Amino acid sequence: MGFQKPTGTQDLLPGVVERWQFIEEKARDLCRRFNYQEIRTPIFEQTSLFERGVGETTDIVEKEMYTFLDKGDRSMTLRPEGTAGVVRSYVENKLYGEPDVSKLYYIGPMFRYERPQAGRQRQFHQFGIEAIGAIDPAIDAEVISLGYELCRELGLQGVTVEINSVGNPSSRADYREKLIAFLTPMRESLCKDCQSRIDRNPMRVLDCKVDQDKFTGAPSILDSLDEECLSHFERVKTYLTEMGVDYSINHRLVRGLDYYTLTAFEYKAQGIGAIDTVGGGGRYNGLVAEVGGPDQPGVGLAIGLERIQLILENQNIEIQGVKPLDVYLVALGEEADKEVTKQLFKLRQAGISAERDYLGRKMKAQFKSADRMQARYTAILGDDELARGEIAVKFMETGEQRTVKLEDLANELKSGIE
Ligand code: HAM
Repeated sequence: MGFQKPTGTQDLLPGVVERWQFIEEKARDLCRRFNYQEIRTPIFEQTSLFERGVGETTDIVEKEMYTFLDKGDRSMTLRPEGTAGVVRSYVENKLYGEPDVSKLYYIGPMFRYERPQAGRQRQFHQFGIEAIGAIDPAIDAEVISLGYELCRELGLQGVTVEINSVGNPSSRADYREKLIAFLTPMRESLCKDCQSRIDRNPMRVLDCKVDQDKFTGAPSILDSLDEECLSHFERVKTYLTEMGVDYSINHRLVRGLDYYTLTAFEYKAQGIGAIDTVGGGGRYNGLVAEVGGPDQPGVGLAIGLERIQLILENQNIEIQGVKPLDVYLVALGEEADKEVTKQLFKLRQAGISAERDYLGRKMKAQFKSADRMQARYTAILGDDELARGEIAVKFMETGEQRTVKLEDLANELKSGIE
């Protein structure tokens, strides 16, 4: 028996990986336009960073982390999300000392031990952004609009933006009490998980998939918001409206991580099976201090690339697959073979994608190979041409063939390709 990939992971093979590159290029391009810069942090961090940052009573920390002891007996965890690591790096590298807001983005694998299903993996990939150092609600709106724009420019249909405010710690304490009062009488009728969540993290109860319909009469967090939270929320909404970003308010939207304050939001979509969230994020004004830094506010988002993939597939959105090859070189004879090897390298140095045969195949099989690679040109070098310092170039689309000087090959091909 051979080896198999671990449950909940994927091999992204050529032919599929191009779809990933397409999304990643779009995300990077958006970050350039929105002026976010890339940050790369380690894939594992000290376990306590996530316990502190993400929160001890969250599903992630309680059940889903890939935690291990390293050979020095330190507890390490494969990152279940990107924000905690970015904030740790922001603090450790004293980015708060810089005059401008730190606007950072990342694309990479995250790890959660969850039950795999369509759109849910154990190793999955996020594109995320974090803006740290500003309290201005315009930046909340900027973050929300970037995710919105990514979905729009990728051509995804039916993605909606839901927003909420989860308040500051004091308004949340008020809400917590009201919510516990609402939930306590129905405690016995709730699922086991929710029964224990009532005391530890009652807002998460509202997120329960099993008991959804019991919560229609639940108090709204929006009624517990104080002046400061309300005005922040109002301004975020105004900016979004000004920008033309469609959104709806969902006062029951709670996020699965504990660091959120004020703005919380999610991108929802139909057509990814049982799971309907493409991405989400919000403000985290206490997190930088929690991780040992100064009291700096932050806001960010993360979008799941597997989920974007699923929507692209389900909605039959065409993406260019394997990129066609510029030229396939065919050598006839030993001397020609040497020259082809040299020309191949020269073409590649000149920016042209070029290939040759390595399997000792007959000319006909080499042409077939060129076809499979969708070569735009094939160039054939025989001894006669070689003696004249020339090569025969065939434009595959029309079958038109001409002879060019070997030293002009790169330029000739380039002018035909551009
Ligand atoms: P999150 O809601 O836990 O937020 O994850 C964001 C997105 O990652 C989800 O909406 C989903 O698309 C994707 N995702 C999460 N778990 C899985 C999984 N097991 N398989 C596939 N995709 C998954 C965060 O992670 C926050 N760090 C977002 C954030 C950034 N908030 C502020 N800044």
